[in-house]
Amino acid sequence: MCGIVGYVGPRPAAAIVLEALYRLEYRGYDSAGLAIVNGTGLTVEKAAGRIGVLHKRLGDDLPAGTTAIAHTRWATHGAPNDVNAHPHADCGGTIALVHNGIIENADVLRKRLAARGHQFRSETDSEVLAHLIEDAYEGSLADAVMAVLPSVEGTYGIAVVAGREPGVLVAARMGSPLLVGVGDGECFVASDAAAVISHTRSVVYLDDGEVAVLRPDSHQIYDQQTVRVEKKIRTIDWEIGAVERGGYAHFMLKEIMEQPVSIRNTVRGRLLEEEGTARLGGLNMPDEALLEVDRVVLIACGTSWHSALIGEYLIEEHARIPCEVEYASEFRYRNPILDEDTLVVGISQSGETADTLAALREARHRGARTIGLVNVVGSSIAREVDGGIYLHAGPEIGVASTKAFTSQVAALAMLTLRMARLRHLSVLKGREIVDAIQRLPAQIERVLASAAAVEAVADRFARTTNALYLGRGYNFPVALEGALKLKEISYIHAEGYPAAEMKHGPIALIDDMMPVIVVAPRDGTYAKVVSNVQEVRARGGRVIAVVTEGDEEITRLADHVFPIPATIDALTPILSVLPLQLFAYYIAVRRGCDVDKPRNLAKSVTVE
Ligand code: G6P
Repeated sequence: MCGIVGYVGPRPAAAIVLEALYRLEYRGYDSAGLAIVNGTGLTVEKAAGRIGVLHKRLGDDLPAGTTAIAHTRWATHGAPNDVNAHPHADCGGTIALVHNGIIENADVLRKRLAARGHQFRSETDSEVLAHLIEDAYEGSLADAVMAVLPSVEGTYGIAVVAGREPGVLVAARMGSPLLVGVGDGECFVASDAAAVISHTRSVVYLDDGEVAVLRPDSHQIYDQQTVRVEKKIRTIDWEIGAVERGGYAHFMLKEIMEQPVSIRNTVRGRLLEEEGTARLGGLNMPDEALLEVDRVVLIACGTSWHSALIGEYLIEEHARIPCEVEYASEFRYRNPILDEDTLVVGISQSGETADTLAALREARHRGARTIGLVNVVGSSIAREVDGGIYLHAGPEIGVASTKAFTSQVAALAMLTLRMARLRHLSVLKGREIVDAIQRLPAQIERVLASAAAVEAVADRFARTTNALYLGRGYNFPVALEGALKLKEISYIHAEGYPAAEMKHGPIALIDDMMPVIVVAPRDGTYAKVVSNVQEVRARGGRVIAVVTEGDEEITRLADHVFPIPATIDALTPILSVLPLQLFAYYIAVRRGCDVDKPRNLAKSVTVE
């Protein structure tokens, strides 16, 4: 949600921040802008629309200067137009600022500043910060920023420059991710490592309340009390290729196709075949602590919430521990009952989703033990929880989550194994699960090899206006996820339902215009799903079914089938979701939708 980048060093800054903006575009893409400090002052350029529009406006002759900030926006306050785009400048046009997050007391601050003569141009909450800093400026940008932040309520990741101070870039973080990239004689600030990886792998993750003062040859970090702190420089451990499309038409397709590898990376070194369990060092929980857990609460949003639902089935079936799944946004505003024996698991690809982060904080505050299943290393959730399991799925750029979902389910399966083997699960059953997990990468490859067949079916349904997805047991959440994928990227209205619930309402919608996608591998609920498919057929519905290879019964009833290899019930979602990801992808492409940047969405939602 919104991307920030800044540069200070010896090189022409505009080209650097513009290139970085393209890499951040997946975080927000309704408007973009940059500010450059040159010898005489500040140049600010911004434009509604994609970064390409801004680039075109700038032309080939980029503004000179070696200090710059830039932003790609996902609007929260004020429409996505030129004026509301960032950077925002003060009255005098000498200070420019980019901001992610929401300033909750913006109205109060705006009134106070207006009374002192400040004039506002935009409808954004962010502009207030530029005027606040202007008001406090006495010759040092760093001092002014540190002086005003205590009066700001809300969340922010900001980067600020001043026309009078070339060679200085100030950044601050409160609840919105920000990192400092440390190069050779140059420094960067960015909301995401993808923006800096082509220049440096050395990064410092800022914590809430910290302010970074960057100069070409130094990065100084201050805490909330404005005391200088020494922070560890960390190394980004993935390659630039991970954030490039590498020949694929879209990141989403690339990420779907990467799943044999991403799953392998998620489970690598973690499975203990002999003992039929998993080794999860990052949990920071000895067996005794895991044994004390008498309840598990899984919290997440979006696609991650769907994997949490699968986790609930897994944990209750195999570990026999009561488990609940909550939308993070609901959990944090209820009055949840938690104690030290409750394990609260936050699931998040980005590790930055504001609601999930806040829900985990609330859980910790109430004495529960928290762990995170997170993909982005060093992200806020990863750093705040007591322990966790990194997904190691590699950067996910496509806004619609794919490979992170399957890695989350694999991580949940390993967490379940660990807890189950300490309790009731026999070593033989444990080995069976380990073996099934190990077979997944090859099985995923097999499913993905029939992408062309999915594409052919997608072609026939590209003009549909509604779709219903049905599944039961472990595959009910897959039905939800299949429907979400389709609506996110193709804008077709789609609903996921537990198959048996269909007759309590959605059945009224079924006619020969309505494709019904049934997720029906041969698992414990198969016979029941067959009956549900019959009910759809009886009403003239068109059935597309995800079935186990060799299935004859549903194949006979369905108009189209997507076969998947057989595995244990608990792992079927990792295979059954694949044709649904591809189906949504190909339909969206046929409809001419912008698959990687669907309208109104953002990759990581860092506001409530
Ligand atoms: C946004 C994304 C979804 C994602 C959700 C949760 O809505 O568009 O794809 O599932 O956030 O994100 P997280 O990073 O917490 O998994």
